[in-house]
Amino acid sequence: MVLNPSGVSGGDNVVFSPAPMDKSARIYIAGHRGLVGSALWRALRKQGFTNLVGATSSELDLRDRQGVLRFFKQTEPEYVILAAAKVGGILANSTYPADFLTDNLQIQLNVMDAALATGISRLLFLGSSCIYPKYAPQPIKEDSLLTGHLESTNDAYAIAKIAGIMQVQAVRRQYGLPWISAMPTNLYGPNDNFSRTTSHVLPAMIRRYEEAFRAGENSVTNWGTGTPRREFLHVDDMADACIHLLENYDGPDQVNVGTGTDVTIKEVASLVASAVGYEGTVHWDHTKPDGTPQKLLDVSKLTESGWTPKISLEQGLVQTVQWFRDNVHDSRT
Ligand SMILES: NC(=O)c1ccc[n+]([C@@H]2O[C@H](COP(=O)([O-])OP(=O)(O)OC[C@H]3O[C@@H](n4cnc5c(N)ncnc54)[C@H](OP(=O)(O)O)[C@@H]3O)[C@@H](O)[C@H]2O)c1
Repeated sequence: MVLNPSGVSGGDNVVFSPAPMDKSARIYIAGHRGLVGSALWRALRKQGFTNLVGATSSELDLRDRQGVLRFFKQTEPEYVILAAAKVGGILANSTYPADFLTDNLQIQLNVMDAALATGISRLLFLGSSCIYPKYAPQPIKEDSLLTGHLESTNDAYAIAKIAGIMQVQAVRRQYGLPWISAMPTNLYGPNDNFSRTTSHVLPAMIRRYEEAFRAGENSVTNWGTGTPRREFLHVDDMADACIHLLENYDGPDQVNVGTGTDVTIKEVASLVASAVGYEGTVHWDHTKPDGTPQKLLDVSKLTESGWTPKISLEQGLVQTVQWFRDNVHDSRT
């Protein structure tokens, strides 16, 4: 595809002014059935937005470059939120690094090139906190990007996400469009991926404890030592933060999105056990990898822009366990 931006040309600046988005604005949420995309859909609907656009991966495979361009021409969105990605936990990332790299590069490239070709002035790209170096000073500031080696279990995925941030920055420089990037910490909530093989630590734990509880088992085994520290943000807070950024933030640097506080994996396991009602013994399998020792985002940039999270981890876990119980047969397994 030859890029031929219809609404923009090199050097044309679109000036961003903070303002609420028009409730009838056409907003395309790429990945609207996923954890983040579905939360965005819910949050925007709840706030009265009436013109949301989405397509499942079977309706539109975002790796199909021509298909993506056609979709943009047909639907003519005004805003694009790029929440579609190949996402997975430590096992999936370390088993399929090539897929995580190429799928994500293709999805990002196709969506952003089509957005540019159709003159989309406002796009929000979602990356991940794994873009930061394994031993970045904690809490991790946005300017730690590209200052050290990545965690090797998810470096391929992280490189794709870093390329996405660069693409946003390059479009800003070359075309003057106010595109932005947000880097969420670990997320959890309704519509999460609870699969045994591809899920992240928290949904995997919820599933494990819930199954042990249901089966009356008297012990569960978790991966690693339980000592790494992690930060968790409820996905409804994440969606709220994305809307806040779209309405209030403009700048080339990615914005960290998190709570600014972390807990050990052991602490989170005990919160999950209490949300589930599980009272058995917990073993830690030290032969399994721990990943990065600590991953806590510095969220001062987001906080200074006027946004703070509202859902506590305890509250969010109780709600998510209930969601999993209600949807276990439909949720990703
Ligand atoms: N989950 C986290 O803890 C976390 C943390 C930090 C950052 N993030 C970022 O947040 C974003 C969303 O993550 P998530 O947790 O919501 O992931 P998710 O629940 O796995 O959802 C991903 C979505 O992407 C869509 N998708 C994947 N491959 C596609 C393809 N080839 N064509 C079209 N659609 C495709 C899927 O569509 P279908 O459902 O239609 O198949 C799915 O709805 C990602 O960029 C991720 O890096 C997530």
